[in-house]
Amino acid sequence: MFKLSILISSVFILTFLSCGKAEAEKRAGFSYENMSSETKKTSTEAKVLASEKIDLINKGIGPVTSLELPNNIDYTLAKSGEAIFKKMCTACHRPDKKFIGPAAKGILKTRTPEWIMNMILNPEEMIRKDPLAKELLIEFNYAPMIKQDLTQEDARAILEYYRTLN
Ligand code: HEC
Repeated sequence: MFKLSILISSVFILTFLSCGKAEAEKRAGFSYENMSSETKKTSTEAKVLASEKIDLINKGIGPVTSLELPNNIDYTLAKSGEAIFKKMCTACHRPDKKFIGPAAKGILKTRTPEWIMNMILNPEEMIRKDPLAKELLIEFNYAPMIKQDLTQEDARAILEYYRTLN
């Protein structure tokens, strides 16, 4: 009798446990499904860093709305751009590697010339409103690209220097 009651109660407990388990699995399966699609989304987004994203359409926000680059690089202009870059930008940028800000090399393969000029001339508005600049700010741990009082000619010279790094 004693054994029987143990048997009955263990059957009861087992049934109860498996039901509970099924319930839990059902719930977990449900949320897992939700989670996996969410995770998928964020992981593909996280794969491409903002600094590596290619966007050759976005012109950014600022004074430069249209800029056609001639085929040939103007090396005199690039030289003066290099001098300005060395003086004003190397505190945070290196030509060929990531530093406090992104590397300068190869930037013309991923950004429009207008976007680059606007980022140099109007970074405050860019990091507030431009989707790509906003993402960059996050990638670089909220270290903002700072506005320095460069003229449009200075920015254009730096752009020409960037062309020699591509
Ligand atoms: C105090 C540090 C600092 C200085 C000085 C600075 N920058 Fe930046 N810059 C950043 C940071 C950080 C980012 C990326 C995060 C962001 O946009 O806020 C950035 C982003 C950029 C970008 C966008 C890069 C990309 O890959 O999309 C350009 C272009 C740029 N800077 C050019 C310049 C130029 C040109 C100068 C000099 C006139 C300069 N920066 C000076 C910190 C700086």
